[in-house]
Amino acid sequence: MKKKQHPIGFFDSGIGGLTVAQAVTKLLPNENIIYFGDTAHLPYGEKSTAAIQSYSIKICDFLLSQKCKIILIACNSASAAAFELVKEYVGSKALVMNVIDPVINYIESKYQNKKIGLIGTKKTILSEVYAHKIKDLNINIELKSLPTPLLAPMIEEGFFNNSISESIIANYLSNPNLENIEALILGCTHYPLIKNQIQNFYSNEIEIIDSAEIVAIELENMLKTNNLILDFENISSKKFFVSDYTNSFEASTRHFFKEMISLEFYPLWN
Ligand code: DGL
Repeated sequence: MKKKQHPIGFFDSGIGGLTVAQAVTKLLPNENIIYFGDTAHLPYGEKSTAAIQSYSIKICDFLLSQKCKIILIACNSASAAAFELVKEYVGSKALVMNVIDPVINYIESKYQNKKIGLIGTKKTILSEVYAHKIKDLNINIELKSLPTPLLAPMIEEGFFNNSISESIIANYLSNPNLENIEALILGCTHYPLIKNQIQNFYSNEIEIIDSAEIVAIELENMLKTNNLILDFENISSKKFFVSDYTNSFEASTRHFFKEMISLEFYPLWN
């Protein structure tokens, strides 16, 4: 089998990264994909850096054993805590991408001299990874960040597009720290599932920056640059693995991919 036919590997703590996997399959329908949801350990946003690093390495071992040509860390918390380590660990065995750098590249061109907001897990926000990367750009973007730790578990439990999620979202977004922002970065891959509710909160007046499509475009570029894009007709194979079985994961996967999917239980820690 040619390396081009090898799968794209994704991982997240749960269903969040499916938002990115879906955007990738929409853009690159021929590609084979393998998704790992580390449901045994979610939420990552509450875990220590060392714990997230050790989960990430184990998942990468699994994705490498499946011959992934590229590993996309489809989780902001793991991108913040483990990207450098994973990149070094994987070395030349596969390409590695995170979900933060593509968003930084996007705002660099669009939001100079503007004030923008960022919401994410405690891990992502307290790591200040976005603030550091913006500082490195050496341009003037005022970043206002807010940890919103209830949102990922709420979404994982299927609470979106209802009155409970609406009041939690409104409560967070009314925080004075986010006043007068001109765009809001969804710094967690679970949040595209509540993007409509966030847009409604702002009456569609500001841009809600959802990383899924932005990341999919950079992934396509990276595969092209490395001559790894699957550029011939292929019936895409999609495999989903979880470290602990949850109903909501299976339901969400079907919801996203609208086809029969095979969900396999893969307890990495036994
Ligand atoms: N989807 C994840 C992120 O982007 C993780 C959420 C969590 O497990 O806390 O940060």
